[in-house]
Amino acid sequence: MADDAGKLKFGEARCPGPNFSDYLKEDAKPVPDFLLDENYEYMGSEPLSTERYTSPEFFKKELDLMWSRVWQMAAREEELPEPGDVVVYKLADKSFLIVRQKDLSVKAFYNVCLHRGRLLRTDSGWSKELKCPFHGFIWNNDGSLKEIPCQWDFDHLKKSEMGLPEVRVARWGGYIFINEDPSAPDFLEWSHPMAEQLGRYRHEECYTASWVGKVIPANWKAVSEAFMEAWHSVVTHPHILPFTGDANSRYDVYGDHWNRALTPFAVLSPHLQGKGHSEQFIIDEFLKSNGRGAESGDEKVTVPNGTTARKAMAAANRVRFTEMFGRDHSDAADAELLDAFTYNLFPNLSPWGGFMPNIVYRWRPWPDQDKTLMEIRLLFRNPPGKPMPRATPMKFLTDEQTFMDGADHLGPALAAVFDQDMANLPYVQDGMKASKNKRIELGNYQEIRIRHFHRTLDKYLAGHMGQGAPMKAKKAPARKKKG
Ligand code: FES
Ligand SMILES: [Fe+2]
Repeated sequence: MADDAGKLKFGEARCPGPNFSDYLKEDAKPVPDFLLDENYEYMGSEPLSTERYTSPEFFKKELDLMWSRVWQMAAREEELPEPGDVVVYKLADKSFLIVRQKDLSVKAFYNVCLHRGRLLRTDSGWSKELKCPFHGFIWNNDGSLKEIPCQWDFDHLKKSEMGLPEVRVARWGGYIFINEDPSAPDFLEWSHPMAEQLGRYRHEECYTASWVGKVIPANWKAVSEAFMEAWHSVVTHPHILPFTGDANSRYDVYGDHWNRALTPFAVLSPHLQGKGHSEQFIIDEFLKSNGRGAESGDEKVTVPNGTTARKAMAAANRVRFTEMFGRDHSDAADAELLDAFTYNLFPNLSPWGGFMPNIVYRWRPWPDQDKTLMEIRLLFRNPPGKPMPRATPMKFLTDEQTFMDGADHLGPALAAVFDQDMANLPYVQDGMKASKNKRIELGNYQEIRIRHFHRTLDKYLAGHMGQGAPMKAKKAPARKKKG
């Protein structure tokens, strides 16, 4: 506790043993600089109020002051490849249409009929034009007004003023982002250094191969924060400890909108050190339960004498991913073929990095502070020269179903992990409401991404972000290395 901690400054404590940076030093290949960059910043140790998660008033402030001013991922390109394809993107009480144009550009509109306010569409699909199902006002797919039935009764409306209101669009890495705030910085400035760190993994060459969604009875922040730290593995996911360096993960924060956890895989958890486990045990457990490598379940990788599970598994993946995805991985670092690079783009997108099939999480209030639509995708690399497959439709799990019911998409190993995560979350929301002191506490290091997230959220709620407020992403000072 703080009273007798004394020897280290707050934020300097680290789990004993090798950390992610130490594993990078042993990598068989050159490691990109952005992975070597350690960028931790101590941000204070104050508790957070549970009302941030439970209060309808706080939720309303988030909608008014934050959600309306941020870039948020509304679709992947492969969800709407053809002219006329439309994605309905909704969140809380907001609804938008993302529409592929004839020239393959993308426009986004408020999904609202300008006659008497019906939602223009309730589902994604293909559309020759945007026709309201109530009285039949019609807009062209470019948002211009096409037709008003009983035009004689609407002489007061000027066609030139009846275009559908647009929302800003940015496209990067196969993702389509929207922003309601006309004065927000351009996407790449706003998201810096996202492109520098994630660009190497070329998500624009990937497609949505698996996609599962489920409504979770917990606040959208509580759900997303369950994926911002690895250290809950020791109790929530004990079966992955034989191949996961959970507590030795590295946590880096950048500017206002970007942070990451880097968790080494194919290594023994510090919680299991000294129990006599062999390197072969580590690799066998990795193949059985990692799930992200799209294993068939029959793989066997032998650890040669004198080497490690990590080196053997990386070498195997270097060959296997080249065969699976038709792209050369000879320059990929071991870390890029094994580890969890769980990035977060504020406020609700988590695209993983690395050359393994990439997980992408998205969290949306659904529709209020007590419920969240949690989506999990797996992006697969598309072999060169092959047409990009259309995104597989989302499998929307019912309240009664578990993620194991989505195992045809996620595979049983990943589905089991997500079910373990979800088993906590309804009780997190209930516990926050039942709390006596109405506060939660955060670890200074392993939960720095949660604190970073709330710091940025507070900037929006205080009106310091968006609406033209100055907002340059600053590089945080690196933590001084000890000894
Ligand atoms: S509300 Fe859309 S046409 Fe009337
Ligand atoms: Fe988890």
